[in-house]
Amino acid sequence: MILVLDFGGQYAQLIARRVRECRVYSEMIPYDTPVDEIRAKDPEGIILSGGPNSVYEEGAPRVGPDLFDLGVPMLGICYGMQLMALVEGGEVGAVQIREYGRSDLVVKSHEGLFAGTPDEQKAWTSHGDAVLSLPEGFEITAETPSVPIIAFEDGAQGRFGVQFHPEVRHTEYGMEILKNFLFEACGCRPEWTPVNIITDAVERIRGQVGEARAICGLSGGVDSATAAMLVHRAIGDNLTCVFVDHGLLRHNEAEQVVEAFAQNSDVPLVHVDAAGRFLDKLADVTDPEAKRKIIGEEFIRTFEEEAGKLEDATFLVQGTLYSDVIESGTRDAARIKSHHNVGGLPEVMDLDLVEPLRNLFKDEVRVVAAELGMPERLVWRQPFPGPGLAIRVIGDVTAERLEILRKADAVLQDEIRNAGLYRELWQSFAVLPAIHSVGVMGDARTYAYPIVIRAVTSDDAMTADWARLPYDLLERTSNRIINEVPGVNRVALDITSKPPGTIEWE
Ligand code: XMP
Repeated sequence: MILVLDFGGQYAQLIARRVRECRVYSEMIPYDTPVDEIRAKDPEGIILSGGPNSVYEEGAPRVGPDLFDLGVPMLGICYGMQLMALVEGGEVGAVQIREYGRSDLVVKSHEGLFAGTPDEQKAWTSHGDAVLSLPEGFEITAETPSVPIIAFEDGAQGRFGVQFHPEVRHTEYGMEILKNFLFEACGCRPEWTPVNIITDAVERIRGQVGEARAICGLSGGVDSATAAMLVHRAIGDNLTCVFVDHGLLRHNEAEQVVEAFAQNSDVPLVHVDAAGRFLDKLADVTDPEAKRKIIGEEFIRTFEEEAGKLEDATFLVQGTLYSDVIESGTRDAARIKSHHNVGGLPEVMDLDLVEPLRNLFKDEVRVVAAELGMPERLVWRQPFPGPGLAIRVIGDVTAERLEILRKADAVLQDEIRNAGLYRELWQSFAVLPAIHSVGVMGDARTYAYPIVIRAVTSDDAMTADWARLPYDLLERTSNRIINEVPGVNRVALDITSKPPGTIEWE
C-alpha cells in the first residue's frame, strides 16, 4: 500500500486514484498524521502531495525529519518535492518565470523515475517556487528551460522529487513515472483489483454495523445502489432500502427506479412519497446553498422517521463519493458547494452514517458495480444530484416551474439517447433560469422562459468540458422543446467548462 500525504493540493486525491489505477492500493491521509500511525499502516511507499502554500510561509504545512527516517521510498510532488528538499538540506525559492500549464522537460537521467521515457517530454506544472539548490546526495534528473531542477532523486536512499504533476493526464509520461516509483523504487506488485475493494468494504461494514439494522437511502443512481449491494453482502436481512421521492425527480423517474430495483434485487424497498413536504420547505427559497441545506436536512428527517418504523435501525447507508466530499470542503480544500449528503447534512442526526464509497470516484464505483453484476443501464446511468431539479430550477422552486423543466429535460434525454450519445456524456440535462425573454410565435408576442442545455464530458466530475453536441441534434432538441413545452420560447446552450463553471448551475 502507498500512502499519499495530503498538503491541500487540488490533485491530492488524484494521486491516490492514479496509484490505484496501477492496481496498487493507496490511501490519502492528512499531512500531519502522527508518524507512529503512518508506521502502523506499514506502507511500501509514501507520496507527498502538492499544496497551495510556499514552504517558507508562516503556517505552511510541514513534516518533521522523523517521517524521513521511516526508511520507506518517498516521492515528493510539487510542494512535496520542495518540502523534501528543505528537510534534506536543499534550498527552495521563487522562480523568475512562474510556470502554469505545459512545460517542456529535458530528462537528464533515465536511471530512476524516468526509466523507459524519452529525453524530451511534456509535463503539467503549476508553481511559483522551485528547488534552487540540491540537498547532498541528490542529482538532477530533469530540467526545463526556466527551471534547472524540475526533478531530482537520491536513488540510494529512495528519495524522488518532481516539480510537475505526474498524476494529471496532460503530463505525457506521468503514469510511467508513477509506475517506476511504485514497481521499481517501492517494489509494489499490481495486484489490487475491484474485487479487493468489495472484500475490504464488506469487512469494514460488518465491523461498523455489527448486528444492528441499517437503512439505505436509494436514489436510483449507481452510487447508492452499489452502496446498498455492498451493505447487503455485509449484513444481509438487516438492511432495508428507502427511496424518498422528494418531488424533484425527472419525468417518470420514481416509477422507473422502483421497478428497476424490484427486478434486480431482493432487498426490501420502502417507497416514501415526500413531495409535498419538500416543496413546502422550499417555498420562496431562492438561495442555492439554502436549498441544498433544506433538502439535505429533509432527507435525513425522512430517513429518521422511516428508521424509527423499522425496529429502530440505527445506521443510514449513503452512496457518498469522494467528489461530493471534496466539493463540500475538507479541512485542506475550499468549499465549492454543499452536496446534500455531506455539507448539506444537519448538525444533529439520530443515525450513524455508513459510506462505503466515500474514498472512491465515480468511475471506480462503476467498476465495482459491474463486478457486483449490476445491469449495464444502471452502471452507466448519468449522475443526477440528490437535490434533484431544485438546483436546476433557478430561483423559486414551484410545481409549475418543475413541470416545465421536467418536460424540456425529457425531450433532451430522448434526443441524446436516440443519437447514441448518452453513455459518452458524463451528464446532459436542462436548466430553467429565472428570466423571461421576448419571442414571436404564431404571429403573436410571447414572453416566456428560456431553457438552457448543459452537456459535459468528464472522468470524475472534478473537471469537465462542455460537450460538442452535433448541430442537428441541437436543432431538433430546440425545436421540440419550444413546440412541446408550454411556457418556453427559447433554447440556449451552456459552453462553460469546469473550472471555471461547475457542472450544475446551483
Ligand atoms: P458540480 O455542480 O459541483 O457537480 O460540478 C459535480 C457532480 O456532483 C453532482 N452533484 C451532486 N450530487 N448531491 C449529489 O449527490 C449534491 O448535492 C450534488 N451537487 C452536485 C453533479 O450533478 C455532478 O455530477
